[in-house]
Amino acid sequence: MPIPRRSWAEPFKIKVVEPVRLTTPGQRLAAIREAGYNTFLLKSEDVYIDLLTDSGTSAMSDRQWAGMMLGDEAYAGSRNFYRLEAAVQRLYGYRYLIPTHQGRGAEHIISRILIKPGDVIAGNMYFTTTRLHQELAGGRFEDVVIPEAHDPASEHPFKGNVDLAKLEALIARHGAARMPYVSVAATVNMAGGQPISLENLRAVRELTARHGIRVILDATRVAENAYFIQQREPGYAHKSLAEILREMLSLVDILYMSGRKCAGVRGGLIATNHPEYYNRLLEWLPVYEGFATYGGMSTKEVEAMAVGLREMTDPTVASASADFVKYFVGRMVEAGIPVVTPAGGLACHVDASRFLSHVPQADYPAGALAAAIYLVSGVRGMERGTLSTDRDKEGRDVLADLELVRLAMPRRVYTMSHIEYTVDRVRWLYEHRDLVQGLQWVSEPPVLRFFFGRLRPLNDWGNRLADAFIADFGEAV
Ligand code: F0G
Repeated sequence: MPIPRRSWAEPFKIKVVEPVRLTTPGQRLAAIREAGYNTFLLKSEDVYIDLLTDSGTSAMSDRQWAGMMLGDEAYAGSRNFYRLEAAVQRLYGYRYLIPTHQGRGAEHIISRILIKPGDVIAGNMYFTTTRLHQELAGGRFEDVVIPEAHDPASEHPFKGNVDLAKLEALIARHGAARMPYVSVAATVNMAGGQPISLENLRAVRELTARHGIRVILDATRVAENAYFIQQREPGYAHKSLAEILREMLSLVDILYMSGRKCAGVRGGLIATNHPEYYNRLLEWLPVYEGFATYGGMSTKEVEAMAVGLREMTDPTVASASADFVKYFVGRMVEAGIPVVTPAGGLACHVDASRFLSHVPQADYPAGALAAAIYLVSGVRGMERGTLSTDRDKEGRDVLADLELVRLAMPRRVYTMSHIEYTVDRVRWLYEHRDLVQGLQWVSEPPVLRFFFGRLRPLNDWGNRLADAFIADFGEAV
């Protein structure tokens, strides 16, 4: 039996509150129009429950806030850096630390230093900024995640696993000299926050070691991944999260993370035990991020990150956020709403292909669903489908394997009633799903188009949906 949590209630109480405002359906219709049907372009004051991301939106603990007061704002050699370094050494077993301003700063430096034009980077599904940095450095990304990752209904416990046969075939085709590293992510974001197993990570390590290829881990949500290993992988039920984490990290050469997620801090880091990588990466740090002891973060945040990394391995912290997502997913399943299962570690992902099965993929069903959810609830989610994938070199749309709307859970921010409200409104929308149709472009940026792109609803369905909602709920909610 896995180690049980001692209570299912949230392991914190609330010390500071921030009021939220529920707008009327008329105001929401105006806001989503103004935003070009793109939830990234909504003003946050028009959002009631913000589930866009768990990035930089989590609540810090009282100890982290206390740590902020200890920030020693020195350009070089601040004491907070040495505290973060000590935390990385003790928790991760890694000697060298490079702070960065956030995760993509780490991706930029790693890609720029380690990738040569023409290189191939295999990974367990892409993440938007990760792949773009690999491509900007002249590399080509190849997805080697197992096929179950692309099936929202598959109950595979480790949908983030690498397909070893695919990886081996890729090495045979391109040769190890063309593959500077394999890019492995924990709690794979685009697959719905799905974990990788230790057995699989070990096998990746053995396979790549035979060919002299390094492994780099995107450890952005690694604490949740460790928790899933404890809960789901035979042989790990009685190991602590700290032990599982150390075992995972002993299998990779470099890790980087966005501290904005599970460490709850606006920053990032790279860590390694290899002095040669450390020195090569460090050289470029002051050019793009900042000096070696702050890397673009404020030292207040460096200190809060040191505290956050320790809290991350506290069994009640990682398990509480993953169990909260599980509760959300479970309530959506009970309401009959198609979502990605099993629950992952960062969000409830609504399966737009099944929810809006009448909307062709070329009309961006996940984008339409994200806008429709906002319209009927004030809840902001994020499109994770074809809109989030840029066009190919010939200018053709690349249809995504998964059309998802991500309802991400910032840590320690919302309560069960916020979840109940969200489920209730999404259930109403599901009953009226035939009113929702697709989207078309008004203006489309060439890269990472999902951030700033503007769209319009085909056949003006936004008005009809708002009218149906008002007929059931009235003008005021
Ligand atoms: N890797 C993963 C797996 C991520 O989820 C993110 C960010 C990054 C790298 C980049 O880190 O934002 O600190 O620069 N994900 C956010 C999200 C943006 O909403 O999923 P960053």
